[in-house]
Amino acid sequence: MFSTMITYFPNSKVFRLDTRTTSYAFFADPNGFLLHLHYGARVSDGDALVALARREQRPSFQPQPAGVPWPFSRDTAPQEISGVNTGDYRVPGLSIRWDDGSLAADLRYVSHEIRPGAPDMGDLPGAFAGDDKDVETLDILARDAARGASFHLLYTVFPATDVIVRSVRIENTTDSPFTIERVASAQLDLRRDGLHLLQLPGAWVRERHAERLPLGGGIHTMRSVRGATGHSMNNAFALLSSDATESQGDAWGFVLCYSGNFRADVDTDPFGSTRAVTGIAPDTFSWKLAPGESFQAPEVFLAYSAEGVGGMSRRFHDFMRGHLIDQKWAKAPRPALVNCWEAAYFNFNAEKILAIARDAASLGAEMIVVDDGWFGRRDNDKVSMGDWFENSAKVGDMADLVRGVHDLGIKFGLWFEPEMIGEDSEIFRAHPDWVMCIPGRDRSIGRYQYLLDFTRPEIVDAVVDTVAGLASRAGIDYLKYDMNRNHTEAFAAALPPERQGEAAHRFILGVYRFHRLLLERCPGLLVEGCSGGGGRFDAGMLRYTPQIWCSDDSDAVERTRIQGGTSIFYPCSTMGAHVSACPNHQVGRITPFETRATVALAGTFGYELDTTKLSDEDRALVPKQIADFHRYHPLTLAGDHYRLSNTWSDNAVDAWMFVAKNRSSGLLSVVRRRAVPNGNDVVLRLRGLDPAARYEVGELGVWSGDTLMGAGIPVPVPCHDAASMRLPIRRA
Ligand code: DGJ
Repeated sequence: MFSTMITYFPNSKVFRLDTRTTSYAFFADPNGFLLHLHYGARVSDGDALVALARREQRPSFQPQPAGVPWPFSRDTAPQEISGVNTGDYRVPGLSIRWDDGSLAADLRYVSHEIRPGAPDMGDLPGAFAGDDKDVETLDILARDAARGASFHLLYTVFPATDVIVRSVRIENTTDSPFTIERVASAQLDLRRDGLHLLQLPGAWVRERHAERLPLGGGIHTMRSVRGATGHSMNNAFALLSSDATESQGDAWGFVLCYSGNFRADVDTDPFGSTRAVTGIAPDTFSWKLAPGESFQAPEVFLAYSAEGVGGMSRRFHDFMRGHLIDQKWAKAPRPALVNCWEAAYFNFNAEKILAIARDAASLGAEMIVVDDGWFGRRDNDKVSMGDWFENSAKVGDMADLVRGVHDLGIKFGLWFEPEMIGEDSEIFRAHPDWVMCIPGRDRSIGRYQYLLDFTRPEIVDAVVDTVAGLASRAGIDYLKYDMNRNHTEAFAAALPPERQGEAAHRFILGVYRFHRLLLERCPGLLVEGCSGGGGRFDAGMLRYTPQIWCSDDSDAVERTRIQGGTSIFYPCSTMGAHVSACPNHQVGRITPFETRATVALAGTFGYELDTTKLSDEDRALVPKQIADFHRYHPLTLAGDHYRLSNTWSDNAVDAWMFVAKNRSSGLLSVVRRRAVPNGNDVVLRLRGLDPAARYEVGELGVWSGDTLMGAGIPVPVPCHDAASMRLPIRRA
């Protein structure tokens, strides 16, 4: 479809990367500096783009590189990746400690290759080309001017989904070891200031509450050193023009494909430029690279949209569904499940599970998930963490329980927390040395558990063996992969002192290894990610877990913010979302049963309750809600998502839509988060429809697409807290 995605203009050494609607351009200047030219709307120039490089006169406080005529200064040059200690005082993309103790990095262009397809990311998760023959990769080789070490700047262009994937690979092509102290996955120097930042801060049960703030001068940092992406700040963010809205204006999105410690800095300089740098957190990282070795940094996905935040979101959704999530699952219907955590917590046995399963199956549910509490002597969270064999007094033989559930015609799912070990457990008694800790120092404990040392492949392999062994023997269909504490005392017992800076990254490589091996052993398994709800909701995990439990907060009102924020970067089909009991277990709120379904239908749908305890009125609604899930699920799996309210505000009314790619059908969902007494009518301008077609909107009437999008329609959502409506949209 696209003839050329990556064009090299040899006279000027300009590289232009084109997608359907965007262009990204940079060039190698006569001194070999890789200077950024443009990332934004699609442009057609090549050589002429060089004029965009900045060359203003600068005072001597900004020194110029030796041999480079004044007024060039690294401190104001827009660079594809910058080093330290050579005159760029902004946040660097690279920092290398050489064998003489010096800290510097000074990259100069050497050569490049353009190859079809996407690079193999080795031990890391990464985007794949799949069947898309238009995907191409530009591999720029640059060398440190003094030491000759090799740096590959990789750019993979996914033209149809408007995404450019960047990463950096460092090769030690010198004779001595050196230490990487910082390597960004990407750096973007935009010649823009006055931008806004859209970020996803939060906390446990309050994840990813989108926040928008104007950027002043200086550095704004988003990071996690918790050993995982964490609840408190997601590793995806966007820069926006100050006038950007959900539907118009400039939006540049950055999604890091990584699940460990990360750091993203946005550095607004005094000269009208904004630099964004993102990658592994240098705070907890260093990596010793011996001669002949190489280091691959994680990928970061970039998307630009001139159609505001919503346009950027839809690009990421299409991209992740087509090039990140396992294609076996990406667009495959997921089972409507009943998860037993809030239904029973630790208080269950096989009879109770079968009773819930029988009842749930009779209402149309397609899977029952047995959560924490089925293994070892686990009747509370103080014991048996890591003992992945069934508590036979409680659940009997797991294979029998699974068979009993399968006999009801539904699937069976089971909870695990593979990275953990509790002190009161068989696994700890057998392998006390498997705990990640610093010898001679106290070990911090979280939820009565420690981390296993996943930097050691033999420990990962042993846990995979146990988990995969049980999953295959018992015939389970789905695995909930949980992780319930932050890291402390990160240390890799098998590594020498000078390599301890590698522990946190090696740990997360161990997690990825676990997932790869598990899926090799159990290829049919559907794995749902989880980390105390949404503590590790990131693109790295999505490579292995096509859905992730979005939050331990199952309250419908709170969930509109959590899911709305999550949807800014991640496809809605990846968000585990369940109808739970009321009063809600986290916030005590009482919401209508139908509102809980309206909100859960925006993700992968299920129930987080004991169906046998439902009132007759609510029970009667379950088959219809599951039917609605089947009806609308194709839209969440493959359609376009539009947020009709600004997700970064605490709205009284939230509304969103899904529209089929062929614009023939859709779903409009509205939730009144807070009733405003005697407040305004709710008038919604719909989006994504064919302006020339006519649409029936629920039972409200029939209008043309241009009226629905241009004028909007009043939606009579009742004026009560947590009232909601879901309105099917059909081409008339
Ligand atoms: C945290 C998860 O988010 C919950 O859904 C549940 O699985 C508990 N862990 C179990 O300990």
